[in-house]
Amino acid sequence: MSNTLLEVKNVVKIFRYGLFGFEFRAVDEVSLSLEDKPFIFTVAGESGSGKTTLARIILGVHVPEYGEVLYRGRDIHRLKGEDLVWFRKEVQAVFQDPYATFNPLKKVYSYLYETAKNVARINESEIENHIEEVLKRVGLSLEKVKGKYPSEFSGGELQRVSIARALITKPRLILADEPVSMLDASLRVTIVNLFKEFRDDLKISFIYITHDLSTAYYISDYVAIMYRGWVVEQGPVDKVFIEPLHPYTQTLLLSAPVPDPRWKEKWLKAIKLTATIEEKEFLARGCKYVARCPHAMKKCFEQVPPEFTVNGVKVKCWLYER
Ligand SMILES: Nc1ncnc2c1ncn2[C@@H]1O[C@H](COP(=O)(O)OP(=O)(O)O)[C@@H](O)[C@H]1O
Ligand SMILES: [Mg+2]
Repeated sequence: MSNTLLEVKNVVKIFRYGLFGFEFRAVDEVSLSLEDKPFIFTVAGESGSGKTTLARIILGVHVPEYGEVLYRGRDIHRLKGEDLVWFRKEVQAVFQDPYATFNPLKKVYSYLYETAKNVARINESEIENHIEEVLKRVGLSLEKVKGKYPSEFSGGELQRVSIARALITKPRLILADEPVSMLDASLRVTIVNLFKEFRDDLKISFIYITHDLSTAYYISDYVAIMYRGWVVEQGPVDKVFIEPLHPYTQTLLLSAPVPDPRWKEKWLKAIKLTATIEEKEFLARGCKYVARCPHAMKKCFEQVPPEFTVNGVKVKCWLYER
């Protein structure tokens, strides 16, 4: 267990809707195993695929109906008291909308101060120095931040403040849920570059949640592709993005600009997207992707595919059964 930082084991999160309690699995038997060395692990997928729900499960906000999340071998949904404080120091979060993260009526500095005092439990006399240090790390300064309200910052600056806030506790892992999707494209790279820098210099690992495949490709070591609550493919980013195995990953990469076009020609010929009928996907007993998949076989309609391992990549698709 010592060489695993985070283990997500067969996690299921069910939401119920309507009078008849229609059950919907926003996260459906997801398993991930993240090793204990600095990494950037991207979770990519379309909106609604379950990325935020998965993040909330990992942060302990949502309790899964099935499965468990182990952080350094400990079930995070059972932590109490001091152990919970320990977990909150170790695992920090950065969210999509910095203007929603900060109360508009509260000075931004007070968030940094409170995190330093209550979560990191830094001595009163050292708090300001420590805050100055983390602000420098993200390219800001104490003078620029102190005394100001959220509305006095640009979106990019405010997102830097929330990253600085996450650094205060000296975390081992930061979960960043769409941290750059509300920023201009030109700013995105400068922000995600910070993650790379912190991985290398501060030995912090990141779970980077995004639907932006170009930043994902640029900064990640590993990637998991989500589709309707499933992780359909996961592995080293160079493998998954250069030679995607799952038909869904192939389609996703075709529809997005990624820097390396090597895979593209090959798959352009192979893929012809079938019409989408969402109900079909919900009614299907087998693969959730069957109604859209150009390679669907009889078996795909009948049985949920397990994860097959192909050349270091795990892929949830019957095409790879041997
Ligand atoms: N608290 C909730 N109650 C009911 N349904 C939810 C809740 N949170 C998310 N969902 C549903 O779960 C699915 C996955 O949502 P989410 O995890 O936010 O996806 P993503 O972050 O990939 O866009 C969506 O269909 C969403 O409507
Ligand atoms: Mg989301």
